[in-house]
Amino acid sequence: KLFRPFNVVVDFETGDLTPGKKITRYLSDIQHFFLDKEKVKAVLAKENPLVYEVIYAEVPEEAGHLAHCTTIIYPGKVGNEFFFTKGHLHEKLETAEIYFTLKGQGRLIMASPDGEECEVLEMFPGSASYIPPCWSHRSVNVGGEPLIFYCIFFADAGHDYATIDKTGFPKVVLERNGEVVVENNPNWKK
Ligand code: PA5
Ligand code: NI
Repeated sequence: KLFRPFNVVVDFETGDLTPGKKITRYLSDIQHFFLDKEKVKAVLAKENPLVYEVIYAEVPEEAGHLAHCTTIIYPGKVGNEFFFTKGHLHEKLETAEIYFTLKGQGRLIMASPDGEECEVLEMFPGSASYIPPCWSHRSVNVGGEPLIFYCIFFADAGHDYATIDKTGFPKVVLERNGEVVVENNPNWKK
């Protein structure tokens, strides 16, 4: 059966994608990744902030299709560590992806499957970041406004979160003296 062409509409200001399916991630969903465990506890004792949302266009998860979505990472930190996405590898490891930034300032951390190679790209309005096959990826909001980007990937790629849950990423993005700095992650497990 022939799949019918369709539009979705992306709001560059809010990141809304309509019609779309929204996923929400709160601090409690990603708490284990943050460096400062005490700060995480202290924040969660008071509130459970919304860290990011992903809004997917409804496309079949089948070979040949291109999945696409927007991601909105809200501004915030735990201690001096900026809010970020969980991060993942693709289950079909050898599938690439593109992140096109619409609004805000970010960093895109990418690592090779063994974590020996790590690259961090800047994300800014107009940047089209290429995530090559096999690289794990996590994005970080380093600004004071939402970081909004539009993603395109193979619809049958799948998300492997379990690996990153175990290893984390080799690098972290922190604020030091008002500057955005990238440092080695002391908790990274190979
Ligand atoms: O497919 C992607 O890489 C993105 O759409 C991400 O899924 C999105 O940015 C949210 O990140 P994560 O899936 O790591 O929670
Ligand atoms: Ni991806």
